[in-house]
Amino acid sequence: MYQRPRRNRKSAAIRGMVEETNLSVSHLIYPLFVAENPDEKSEIASMPGIFRWGTEKVLSEIEECVELGIQNFVLFPVVPEKYKTKRGEYSADEKNFYLKVATEIKKRFPQISLMSDVALDPYSTDGHDGIVENGIILNDETLPVLANMSLAQAQAGFDIIGPSDMMDGRIAIIRETLDDNDYDQTSIMAYSAKYASAFYGPFRDALDSTPKSGDKKTYQMNPANKKEALLEAMLDIEEGADFLMVKPALAYLDVIHSLKENFVLPITAYNVSGEYAMVKAAANNGWLNYDATMQETLLSMRRAGANAILTYHAKDFAQLHKK
Ligand code: PBG
Repeated sequence: MYQRPRRNRKSAAIRGMVEETNLSVSHLIYPLFVAENPDEKSEIASMPGIFRWGTEKVLSEIEECVELGIQNFVLFPVVPEKYKTKRGEYSADEKNFYLKVATEIKKRFPQISLMSDVALDPYSTDGHDGIVENGIILNDETLPVLANMSLAQAQAGFDIIGPSDMMDGRIAIIRETLDDNDYDQTSIMAYSAKYASAFYGPFRDALDSTPKSGDKKTYQMNPANKKEALLEAMLDIEEGADFLMVKPALAYLDVIHSLKENFVLPITAYNVSGEYAMVKAAANNGWLNYDATMQETLLSMRRAGANAILTYHAKDFAQLHKK
């Protein structure tokens, strides 16, 4: 036998030397749900260990995460029902607690990167990512609303705008609006290949944003398709995106790989709520080893080609690796 692959696995030192993929806290983006009531801290039932944080509480939570080495955060707003409308006007309202807390966070922690969420669903009485009329999700009518929301977020101090809505042409109008208003240094992370997935359930529980009727299949992608992800990514690059995202991650590693092979922009894998819930639930039942499983899943996303990983596991990972 001339080739014995086990020789390269015979000690931790040699395994370390030939390791092809690495994973560290610098690759991770941690999602935080923010609520209007300053002192709120309520756990999301389907996401053990993940909380809705009030506008005060979220500051100390970020401080704790920063001490653990986390440097990238994304904020999602838990919008009270009373602010929801058909066209989601509250999303760009100067009284919006989500915009105000972002300003406060960047004042307290100027060194971190703070990413937003752009879509109508948290603000909409219909629970869809675009404006709904007679059961149809209107594309072109939604675009200016997304552009306004993005501009308000850039003005509030977000470093990265995160359009998660999947309307056609939204990256172009957002880029143009930001540039026209002198926000040419504000980045855009496009949710390029976002699939109509059943893995978003726990997130919709957290935000109470389940669509009131219908599903999201006329704008989010069909899980059967991979070529279409290339088209979406190509358009987002042409329109001015800085990062491409694939979402969900675990059931779509081939899509991450395909985008990595075909494009030069950095890729983010969104390890979504349902993926987090599966690992947590099994671990809490004693069926899986949490630390090992969590790290193996994150590593698989890096191996597939992800630069960054947006994940609810980020704090657990950072705690495990605290120096
Ligand atoms: C909505 C949005 C969703 C997620 C992020 N932004 C849900 C949806 O599209 O219905 C899901 C994230 C997760 O499941 O962790 N714009």
